[in-house]
Amino acid sequence: MTPNIHRIAVNTGGGDAPGLNAVIRAVVRSAEQRGWEILGIKDGYDGLFEENGIVRLDRSVVRGITHLGGTIIGTTNRGDPLRWSVDNEDGSATFIDRSQEVIDTLATHEIDALIAIGGDGSLSIAQALFEKGLNVVGVPKTIDNDLAATNLTFGFLTAVETATDALDKLHSTAEAHERVMVVELMGRHAGWIALSAGVAATADVILIPEIPYDIRRVCDKIEERYAEGRNFAIVVVAEGAFPVGGKPLFQRQGGGPEHLGGIGVRIATEIAEVTGQETRQLVLGHLQRGGGPNAQDRLLALRFGAAAVDLVAEGQFGCMVALDPPNVFAVPLAEAIAEIKKVPIESDILKAARALGTCMGD
Ligand code: F6P
Repeated sequence: MTPNIHRIAVNTGGGDAPGLNAVIRAVVRSAEQRGWEILGIKDGYDGLFEENGIVRLDRSVVRGITHLGGTIIGTTNRGDPLRWSVDNEDGSATFIDRSQEVIDTLATHEIDALIAIGGDGSLSIAQALFEKGLNVVGVPKTIDNDLAATNLTFGFLTAVETATDALDKLHSTAEAHERVMVVELMGRHAGWIALSAGVAATADVILIPEIPYDIRRVCDKIEERYAEGRNFAIVVVAEGAFPVGGKPLFQRQGGGPEHLGGIGVRIATEIAEVTGQETRQLVLGHLQRGGGPNAQDRLLALRFGAAAVDLVAEGQFGCMVALDPPNVFAVPLAEAIAEIKKVPIESDILKAARALGTCMGD
């Protein structure tokens, strides 16, 4: 049944990704054409619990933002309304469920539907709210490209471009100093960014979570290169990579939550010890999320935004827009969050890497 829509809300949750502002603009422009009002919830769901946390979005607010990185309504990868952290006096935390408050606050503002833009965490929240009766449509976002049910998420191609550019630049300094450069890239527990940027930038070694590595194989490859007179090497490591029989490494900054990281240093240290070659390492980190979206990510983000508004108009709630080239279509949110999308071992990019002589650590 076609719903009667007058006002919708939009929010962005989880880590930012180039293209968020393009989605917001497409949502606002296409919703306005239908005569709807649009509200932006600041910082994921946090804005619902704060004064001035809900802002009016119209044509003038979203003018000139398509090419901008970040998100004009802010984001957070902390504020889960289903597991809201409350600090206790003794320094510990208690988690409470504020989902009914989310639904009630949206109702108080006469919001007929929510467009939730996010990765698997945000979309899981969206699914839970849908199950509690909220009209929700999801828009998939993550630089990691690890969301099931969509061929691509916006932000990924820009991140790959940023990483490829960095690897290209590292080639010249590695060669000049005859060094091994180890570069840790993002991607959580999937190797899409590392594999794509590594192949594009012709890295000598690419280590991804889907293929546990053997450090001996990595060092053999480096020693082979030096034996051939190619006295430098580029090693790309996905942050979620781990050795055969091992586990991914996590770090914590101050009292903050644990996050993946540290595998680059470990591998660089081991390479230097085993091969005796001068080795440097760097973590490209949040540079991969920063800056504006490239043309492909802008286009995908704009298409997703417009398609999400169509889903609201059609009453297809509990769904997410997804890409199955050449089309954007609707998939159940439940399908999208069921599992993460890893690099298939039979993927042609992986085959191409091997065909090019790249060491995959196995
Ligand atoms: O999911 C996107 C991502 O950038 C991951 O690649 C990375 O592991 C994580 O977010 C880092 O998140 P934070 O913003 O908490 O450092």
